[in-house]
Amino acid sequence: MSAFNPSGPVDLQPLHTFGLQAKAAALRLIRSVDDLADYAHAVRLGESPLLLGEGSNTVFLREELPSVVWKMAMVGKQYLGCDGQFHHLRVFGGENWHQLVEWTLAQGWHGLENLALIPGAVGASPVQNIGAYGVELKDRISAVHAFDTTTNAVCVLSNKACEFAYRESIFKQAERGRLVIVAVDFALPVVWTPVLDYGDLAQRTRDMGTLSPVNVMKAVCAIRTEKLPDPVVLGNSGSFFKNPVVTQHEFDAILALHPRMVHFPAGDGRVKLAAGWMIDQCGLKGHVHKGVGVYAKQALILVNHGFGKGADLLDLINLVRQRVLEKFGVVLEAEPNLIH
Ligand code: EPU
Repeated sequence: MSAFNPSGPVDLQPLHTFGLQAKAAALRLIRSVDDLADYAHAVRLGESPLLLGEGSNTVFLREELPSVVWKMAMVGKQYLGCDGQFHHLRVFGGENWHQLVEWTLAQGWHGLENLALIPGAVGASPVQNIGAYGVELKDRISAVHAFDTTTNAVCVLSNKACEFAYRESIFKQAERGRLVIVAVDFALPVVWTPVLDYGDLAQRTRDMGTLSPVNVMKAVCAIRTEKLPDPVVLGNSGSFFKNPVVTQHEFDAILALHPRMVHFPAGDGRVKLAAGWMIDQCGLKGHVHKGVGVYAKQALILVNHGFGKGADLLDLINLVRQRVLEKFGVVLEAEPNLIH
């Protein structure tokens, strides 16, 4: 029981990047497999424990949480070797994502540069298959090590077994609650193939001089810093809604009514619609509702103006979804894990 920290009611505001006012019964840190066994015990008792990484993808809509919050704190990075094609590494779930990106580049291993500055922990990264500027996590990992709360054993899931899709994985769907991600195995290609197709990333990288993985990272950081609010300054959890994916047939009908609809190919003949553009077109960019609002520079992001409450955010989520549905006939799905 050494992992109790603290044992009384705990303030969740500093434990999630949206920074809403909320409290939980207690906080426990997961530092070892023994702590995971305690967590599994709580799951089996039906106590609905909540697992948190760095809290960048969890939003507390309720102010009092009766359950215990568990924070993944297992850290460490291991180089497993190179097979000629890939550098293999194993990274524990409690490591910070952006620090990992910087560290890999400092070692001369590339592949994660497009994913720089994404807030959060390594253990959370496979859950929603984080992605940015043309690269998704699924393109760079070989396996995920997860603790199975029904058997108290660590199992290894291959990339394929994780069933990755756009902002989706088995950890978000079928295995939600059963598997706790302990470590992630990365396979970083030895030969560098820069991915520069997204927006003005190619131009921004050229502006830095040499085309190199470090300069791609710097360009990504510069773009993100301009467009996305720093959670330390303005609470947020990144893109609040997923970009909806529709069939070509559905898209044709939408395009007939909205010829300027911003869209991208999503594979399998499907089309991804820019949710930020649609929210913007509804006139909601910069909209403020009590302590929360739609970010003034990027409509896909909801922000906490410092005194936001879960109930205010729920009103805002409903308003955004209703306006987009009325104008475009498209249902928006929240990206972060909303705790009601
Ligand atoms: N747009 C507007 N108005 C807005 C926002 C966007 O017109 O207020 C337009 C943009 O001009 C652009 C299009 O919508 O033509 C798409 O916008 P952007 O390029 O900013 O990307 P996004 O779809 O908003 C996605 C990811 C981001 C990721 C970027 C870059 C999702 C839900 N979001 O954003 O991921 O960084 O692409 O790859 O897929 C995150 O998940 O937290 C996140 C920030």
